Amino acid sequence: MSELTPETARAVDRYLVDTLVGRDAALDRAIADQRAAGLPAIEVAPTNGKLLHLLARATGARRVLEIGTLGGYSTIWLARALPEDGRVVTIEAEPRHAAVARASIDRAGVGERVDIRIGRGVDVLPTLADEAPFDLVFIDADKESNTFYLDQAARLGRRGALVIVDNVVRGGRIVDAEDDSAQVTGVRAGLAMLRDDPRFDATAVQTWDAKGWDGFALAVLV
Ligand code: DHB
Ligand code: MG
Repeated sequence: MSELTPETARAVDRYLVDTLVGRDAALDRAIADQRAAGLPAIEVAPTNGKLLHLLARATGARRVLEIGTLGGYSTIWLARALPEDGRVVTIEAEPRHAAVARASIDRAGVGERVDIRIGRGVDVLPTLADEAPFDLVFIDADKESNTFYLDQAARLGRRGALVIVDNVVRGGRIVDAEDDSAQVTGVRAGLAMLRDDPRFDATAVQTWDAKGWDGFALAVLV
């Protein structure tokens, strides 16, 4: 078993989830309600939800900005990492998604720490100066806007803040020269910005989990 195949990667992911992440009623219910409401099944995988949680804890984050709430699954992981007086400001363009997220976040017992702003990032982000500076920013929305979101993260994050971008590998499509889709182009532009813009120092890691082959970019605000 030394070859990486989708089957072995999924088996390893199941093993890691069973061994290190476990199950929890509030998170399971958040996923079940999101599925029942017909939201897309694109929330972060459990291992990555826990990674976000641990990164928030390890960096001592108190104020978190999330761009792309969906059904609130990653939001719950992040909110649980914060002290009582911590805050997640999370932006969701779809009111229907935000309603599912609100219920799941409240049921998980972290409602007081989570402020859902309904609207498009392009409209909401410029209004958040009073909530800044953020210690951690998680970008997980429309990939076409990644450079805009990164610019806003640099504006709203404190020096030393951690910026995380989801879906930077997309099943390897970022290296497919024939793929000039808006999403892949947006991901590539975001990575080029992380390389070229002196406000960031960045790397990226590939992941293989229940959702398949993808990755996170990780940057510190210089
Ligand atoms: C898509 C978006 C995501 O944020 C993700 O994690 C997976 C897929 C998508 O739009 O296809
Ligand atoms: Mg994502």
